[in-house]
Amino acid sequence: MRLTYYGHACFLLDTQGRRILFDPFIRPNPLAAHVDVDSIEADYILVTHGHADHVADAVEIAKRTGAMVVSNFEIVNWFAGQGISNGHPMNHGGRWTFDFGEVKYVNAVHTSSMPDGSYGGAPGGFVISNDEGTLYHAGDTALTCDMKLLSEEYQVTRALLPIGDNFTMGVRDAVSAAGFIGCSEIIGMHYDTFDVIRIDHESARRAFESAGRNLTLMEIGQTMEW
Ligand code: NI
Ligand code: MN
Repeated sequence: MRLTYYGHACFLLDTQGRRILFDPFIRPNPLAAHVDVDSIEADYILVTHGHADHVADAVEIAKRTGAMVVSNFEIVNWFAGQGISNGHPMNHGGRWTFDFGEVKYVNAVHTSSMPDGSYGGAPGGFVISNDEGTLYHAGDTALTCDMKLLSEEYQVTRALLPIGDNFTMGVRDAVSAAGFIGCSEIIGMHYDTFDVIRIDHESARRAFESAGRNLTLMEIGQTMEW
């Protein structure tokens, strides 16, 4: 699996020859001003929930690339209304096998409405699993006991967890989440973008280290492979 960070909760996963883009929010993010959105190629766009900081560039990228939008039923319908007919609706607890592996849409504790105020269903996260590994993108979420279910079903290789606090769990709860999930390799997301989610990087890393887990804070534009 090859993972590139585009800031906030936006990542591009390259696996099994397919490019899967999560939660595109790049043009409105000043921290990601150096990312060339026009050069991002995607075969799939996975949207965890409807908030603008997760869908801002999705319509544009979907139209340019022809990528399939995967999200909950309400959000896929909303994209259809924006002219994106290539969609695959899911809902919580459901799994589907795509040509890059299996996807499960899992619970997140948060809210979800579309940028125009329309109903965005209930928010979720995604587990992507194939013979290259298992990646969990938690979306925006609070700490929830539901995360313990992931450790029963999967060996999560990398977990992308929100750590910015205020709108989602912060570092302390994310350390507990890592324990629930049973994953030692955590990649932080949903921090620093706005004033209220700015964090101290060093103390965040230390908090995970004290719990025997590794927190990676990727540079925007950086790629990791495992
Ligand atoms: Ni949100
Ligand atoms: Mn958000």
